[in-house]
This record gives sequence, structure tokens and C-alpha cells, in this order.
Amino acid sequence: MSQNPYLCGNFAPVEEELSAVDLPVTGELPPGLCGRLLRIGPNPVDPDPRSHHWFLGTGMVHGLRLRDSRAEWYHSRYVRDDRVVAARGWPPVPGPRGRLQMGEGVVNTNVIAHAGRILALVEAGNLPMELDDALESVARTDLEGTLPGGLSAHPHLDPDTGELHAAAYSPLWPFIQYVVIGTDGRVRRTVDVPVPGQPMVHDCMITRSYFILLDLPVILDLDVLEAGFALPYKWHPEYGARIGLLPREGAADEVRWHEVEPCYVFHPMNAYEDDRGRVVLDVIRHGTMFSKDMNGPGDGVASLVRWTIDPGRTRVSEQCLDDLNQEFPRIDDRLTGKPYRYGYTVAMGDAMAPGGIRKHDLANGSVTLHEEGGHRVFMEPVFVPRSPDAGEDDGWILAYVYDRSTDRSDVVVIEAGDFAAAPVATVHLPRRVPFGFHGNWVAD
Ligand SMILES: [Fe+2]
Repeated sequence: MSQNPYLCGNFAPVEEELSAVDLPVTGELPPGLCGRLLRIGPNPVDPDPRSHHWFLGTGMVHGLRLRDSRAEWYHSRYVRDDRVVAARGWPPVPGPRGRLQMGEGVVNTNVIAHAGRILALVEAGNLPMELDDALESVARTDLEGTLPGGLSAHPHLDPDTGELHAAAYSPLWPFIQYVVIGTDGRVRRTVDVPVPGQPMVHDCMITRSYFILLDLPVILDLDVLEAGFALPYKWHPEYGARIGLLPREGAADEVRWHEVEPCYVFHPMNAYEDDRGRVVLDVIRHGTMFSKDMNGPGDGVASLVRWTIDPGRTRVSEQCLDDLNQEFPRIDDRLTGKPYRYGYTVAMGDAMAPGGIRKHDLANGSVTLHEEGGHRVFMEPVFVPRSPDAGEDDGWILAYVYDRSTDRSDVVVIEAGDFAAAPVATVHLPRRVPFGFHGNWVAD
């Protein structure tokens, strides 16, 4: 067996694509849940165990369709990059390549719906892949020629405007690119913000007034390749760490930078401006990244912290909200960039063995745990409101769960307001879904 931990257990790829219909359900699916729960992660094809990095495997999208209290279908489909197409003898996928394509054009990190299209996304240069309703790869897309480089796996939807805001980067670029995508699915605006090195930029934030950049000390380092690893980014604390506030319609020279202690953030939970004009950022903060583990994000513990920035000052105050190891923060997406009360995270246990999920009440600091025994390993929780005008936390939490005792996966539906209770419904999938990254609910 491989000694690369990112090829073992439920990190290991599944053999092939799969479809199933009329899935068995324990409990009762809420009739209001009509749509698809999409999720994506790596499902590497012929990986080399010596150099395989978790972030670089060919993507596989998983989708569960719910309608009228039935689990209509489950599909898993490769995102058809050059590697899987060649390995399987499939026809090549049409569409532009983009000037920044890395390697075989892997797309494996997030899957969203925007402007009537489903897009699989990745960072660092490769173009998004458009998928059809059944999750088949349709074409690589540069958004009708409007996207200058690649995109990001984490564009954030402004609930007031319907526009997407993202931070794109490339190892070939000396800047971070702020990208705004309009409701028509085309890029409306880009701003290239120069940075002193070439940082890995996984995510970003918005508030009412600002686009927020993270310039953190995981830096392009080609010596990593010489050492036999596949992802050329490494922890360089001497680079420093800073948060940039760019006025939403401002120019690159209007960014105000605020230094923090060296750390790494893959995922903010949310950001907003409080009633005193301060910018509040809640993030999952890693003490280091890619300093010990060079094949995945297994350096150590990540905790939920709050950074508060008074725009008139340079100093950032930091408050730990929850020091337990956790990742994959989500919120009610209708509150992106706004004051909010509830966040949901995956309790990671130790880095290789996630546990249940945690609900944070940020108004009173309390945490509620949902867990179903140590053999039930949760992936990113997704909040689905009960109706378009339901209040925050009035709805369901949906999550893919891996069950070690059966080596299969389920999708659970939890009442968000009764978080610790048993799921109202558990959909039993025909096969395990490997540990991966992100996904979203696409309502009908
Ligand atoms: Fe991510």
C-alpha cells in the first residue's frame, strides 16, 4: 500500500464514474428540498505515491438530486481534464485553454451555479469547466473571453447585487487579480494588485465597502519541485502576512494593508463592517502551512479566530473564537459580507480524521456539536434556507458523511435549528465519496 496518506483510506480515489437512482432514505426528506447537492474533490488517475499532492488530483464531481421527498439520483463524474481523457480514451473537451493552464488542466476544488451555468472551479490558472445538469463536462470556459487568466475556487456572491467577487492568482503573475463577474456571467471588472512575492491565494472576502485580499506567507518556491514534491508552494514566514482592504470600486493603489502574525488562511467564514465602521473578519487560521507536510494541508491545528480592523489604524486585533481544530467554515450565504450570527464548521479531530460538525453562535459564543459517532466523518456542511425569505439558521444543514464502519457514504439532512439532534433524513449512497473540498446546493 502507498505510504502517501492522501492516497489511503477515504482519501483514495474510487474506481470509476457511477450513477444510481431512487436511493434508500432513512427518515423523511423535507418536501421543500428540491435541487441538487453538488460536491467536488480530487479523484486522482494513476497518481505517483512519492509526489502526489492532495490538491493536484483530477477532479470528480458528486451530485445528489432531491425532489418531492425522494432521492432521485446520485451521479459521480470526472471533470474531464487532459489526464483522465487520455487515460480513458475519451474525446477531448472543447473550449479555450487559457494562457495560464497548469499541467493537464485539473479542476477539482469547488462547484457553483451562476448565471444559469454550473461551473467546476480551481485556483492558480486553470479555466473553469462548465458542467451540464447531469454533471458531464461540457467545455472549459473563459466566460465568453472576458476572463484574463484563471479564476478562483472561492468566488463570493454579493447577495445584494448577484455579482461574484474573487481573488485570482497565478505562479506566472506578480499580482493578485480582483475579479468581479456580473449577473450575466461575464467579467465586469478586474484590478491587478501588486504583491512582493507570489503567494498562494485560496480565498477572499467582501464587505459592504471592501474587497479583502489575503497576502500570506505560502509562497511559490521552485526548490520544492527539486526536492521531489509536486506543489511548488512553501511556508516562508519571513515574507510576512497582511490583509488588504480595497474599496470595492477602487484602484490597485487604494489598497490599505494591515499586517498580522505569519499564518495561513484557506477559508474565511465571513466578513462585515460593524456599526462603528470596523471591519470584522472571521477566519480559520492555520499557524503554518506546507512547512512540515508537503503533500497536503496536514501541518497542524487550525482554529476559528476573529480579526478586527479599525480602518483608521494599522493594527489588527485578534481574538480566538474557538481553538478546536476545524475547517471548511460555511454560513447562510445570504449574509455574505454582512453582520451574521451563525457559522458551521467541520471538527477535524486530528488532521487525518475529521469528526462531526460544529455550529457557532457568534452572538453568545456558544458552540453546538453534531456528531454521529467517531466512525461517521463529516465533510463541508452546506446551509439551505427553508424558503427564500426564511430567517438566518431557519433551514437545513446538508453534508456528505463517510462511514468508516461500512466504507460507504451518506448525505445527511439536519434541522439547523435543532443541530445536535439526529438527522431528519439520511440518504444512503451506493459508494463512498472520497474526502474532498467544497460544494453547494443548487435549488431548482
Ligand atoms: Fe477551499
